[in-house]
Amino acid sequence: MKLLVVGGGGREHAIIRKLRENPEVTEIVCLPGNAGIAQDATCVPIKATDIDGIVQYVRENPVDFAVVAPDDPLALGCVDRLHALGVKCFGPEAKAARIEASKVFAKNLMKKYGIPTASYEVFDEAGAALDYVKRCPLPTVVKADGLALGKGVTICFTREEAEAAVRAAMLDGAFGASGSRIVVEEYLEGPEVSVLAFTDGHVVKPMVSSMDHKRVGDGDVGPNTGGMGTVAPNPCYTPDVAERCMKEIFLPTVAAMNAEGCPFKGCLYFGLMVTKDGPKVIEYNCRFGDPETQVVLPLLKSDLLTVMLAVENETLADTPVAFSDGAACCVMLASGGYPGKYEKGKVIDLGRAGAMAQIYHSGTGRDANGSLVTAGGRVLGVCCTAEDLKTAVERAYAAAGEIKWDGMILRRDIGKRALEF
Ligand code: AMP
Ligand code: GLY
Repeated sequence: MKLLVVGGGGREHAIIRKLRENPEVTEIVCLPGNAGIAQDATCVPIKATDIDGIVQYVRENPVDFAVVAPDDPLALGCVDRLHALGVKCFGPEAKAARIEASKVFAKNLMKKYGIPTASYEVFDEAGAALDYVKRCPLPTVVKADGLALGKGVTICFTREEAEAAVRAAMLDGAFGASGSRIVVEEYLEGPEVSVLAFTDGHVVKPMVSSMDHKRVGDGDVGPNTGGMGTVAPNPCYTPDVAERCMKEIFLPTVAAMNAEGCPFKGCLYFGLMVTKDGPKVIEYNCRFGDPETQVVLPLLKSDLLTVMLAVENETLADTPVAFSDGAACCVMLASGGYPGKYEKGKVIDLGRAGAMAQIYHSGTGRDANGSLVTAGGRVLGVCCTAEDLKTAVERAYAAAGEIKWDGMILRRDIGKRALEF
């Protein structure tokens, strides 16, 4: 079978490594991929957001199955367009991808169907929003409606911060058109859990839970990033919490999407807060998380391609999705300055890390001499599995210690909170 994977980061690298385990897979093409993915797949330089380019490529180079991994092409209707060509795909169509692409859509869905989430107000007009944040309870959370590269959320502890956040989104265009509409919502407290789930629109099969580390600095300080590391499983996701999530959140969400005429097929990502009143949804993503995928898929015992085909063919009920009892840790190595400005093109020395861990490439390239160089903010994910989390964390850090480049940064405390839980 010839497969297509759209995307070019660590998540796609982890998906491709797992898909390759199926002996029927003869070739994987990745659009656009990166220097690390090029060792596992054929990379073609077509951007993930260039939907016309992707469609033209597939017309000229037929594939048997396509996996569309990032949020942007899903929201832009990449799966709809590939379906129209008769290509089977893993990933939701655009109208279902709204569950991530529009926070207003997601919040209204949860309200209508009684799915637990933070209470909220929606604003299309800055004056009304500014009035509201003068009197709303604090802290409060201001969110841009649309996709904003993970930067559209501001937690506000004072009225001044809330006003500034509203102005930035609605008057200064900090998130472009994504911020012309905003959600202002209740601040929730409790440990966070990410749960990725396969769904074919009929049944939901959750994957092993995970914990992201979003802030750039040790001890969760500094600005938000795309994610500086992950562990799985997440210890606060107890069997009790899992049962409540299935009953109160997962199944009702899938049923709600069906009732709204936009059945969701693919990987539905639940960003959850375990509050004292039970689990609540912070956000939905319409795709695999990055870097959650890098710890979840190595623990998947079932064949990934078989599961993905079952999602598309709506036969997930009959398809086992099993995870190992072990644990996994992914430590992200990033460019100095990230998530702010950073330089690219630094030569990477991997040392012996390749023999000690799975190295998933997020942002790498080749220079004129063919050397592996940095090409993004997040550069490499160093991932290890083990029987227990403590060992997985130790192994990931031992491998990360082998890797060097000028200005490399990493968090030293990935897994600490989970181990102390
Ligand atoms: P999001 O981009 O929606 O994932 O939000 C980024 C981060 O902001 C989340 O991972 C949470 O840590 C935090 N956050 C978002 N919404 C809330 C909320 N209602 N209460 C407290 N923290 C929140
Ligand atoms: N790691 C969070 C996300 O993928 O959105």
